[in-house]
Amino acid sequence: MLKKFQEALDRRKEAGILRTLKPGLKGIDFYSNDYLGLSKNEELQQQLLRCVQENPVLLSGSSGSRLISGNSMIVSEVEHYIAQQHQYSDALLFYSGYNANLALFSALPDRHDTIIIDEQIHRSVHDACRMSYAKKIKFRHNDPEDLESILKRQTGTCYIAIESLYSMDGDFAPLKGIAALARKYNAALIVDEAHAFGVFGYGLVEKYNLQNDVFAVVVTYGKALGAHGAAILCNETVKSYLVNFASPFIYTTAAQDFIWLSIKAGYDFLKQRPELPQKLHQNINIFRNQNIKTSSSEISPIQAIIIPDNHQLKALQEKLSARKFLTYAVYSPTVKTGTERLRICLHSFNTEEEILEMAGVIKEFV
Ligand SMILES: Cc1ncc(COP(=O)(O)O)c(C=O)c1O
Repeated sequence: MLKKFQEALDRRKEAGILRTLKPGLKGIDFYSNDYLGLSKNEELQQQLLRCVQENPVLLSGSSGSRLISGNSMIVSEVEHYIAQQHQYSDALLFYSGYNANLALFSALPDRHDTIIIDEQIHRSVHDACRMSYAKKIKFRHNDPEDLESILKRQTGTCYIAIESLYSMDGDFAPLKGIAALARKYNAALIVDEAHAFGVFGYGLVEKYNLQNDVFAVVVTYGKALGAHGAAILCNETVKSYLVNFASPFIYTTAAQDFIWLSIKAGYDFLKQRPELPQKLHQNINIFRNQNIKTSSSEISPIQAIIIPDNHQLKALQEKLSARKFLTYAVYSPTVKTGTERLRICLHSFNTEEEILEMAGVIKEFV
């Protein structure tokens, strides 16, 4: 058995794509999802510290799943607050976005249903589809015509899975067009806003007022909010169905109240500090003005530079890292072979000098 594992690891190593865990690297952050710097924001940390000092039971373990001993007033209040903020009738909190997607797509569609996914959807949705008995069909990335041709051929209930801002490509879904298709074909549209939340207000569903056409939204709190966890925004029936039938919700110990409270504090902090996303968008602009070839959107905090040669990609990443710029090289199977890329994440706290210097290194290379 071990021989088989070792051979697979050796193959990855030879291809230059062996994954290893590295300690928190020191350098200039162009790779984390901490778009607004909230994960390290001292003011927010001090606020949270005061909450804990006044109420240390926030740090108590939850002692069980939410259906047994792990539910609390705090989590219910925070869910209510989140639903109101996003103008959905209800919300259900999870410990991570991965679990939220697992819950949605494994529990809602049954064996007669079809899940139609954008080919670039996050891995968590693929894994959820493997847990479901529903049929899975992929449509071409961001291609409403392809999606419609698939919808036309289906007879049962369809679920459509998209991200509003794609995590690997840094491009946006044609959200309004896909919402119109969902309405036309009576399909349930589910939008993952992991990378849009906090960067574009509360996300693009809220920004374009699409709540009536979007059956459920996943917002995650480990990225722009610098915290942890996720919420599914939906109506009361869907929430109750998930509480009753979604294994990833039912069979796991609830998080501590501190986690839920820090999410609420994050929302309040976002409201107080509109200059943070503004600064981020200025930085995106500075990077884009460097004219580095990318297919990412010009307003996306994620900028992908395609370098299909693994060794060349690694060399660029190492060259940047030697200059203390931390970036992320994305290899297959995370992305399709031939579309390997350097992924740059821009942040509100990056300085103009840092961006220009990093861009200079990339321009010398590509
Ligand atoms: C689009 C998308 N959805 C879901 C997730 C999972 O969220 P979490 O990190 O909270 O588990 C991620 C994180 O990588 C993501 O990029």
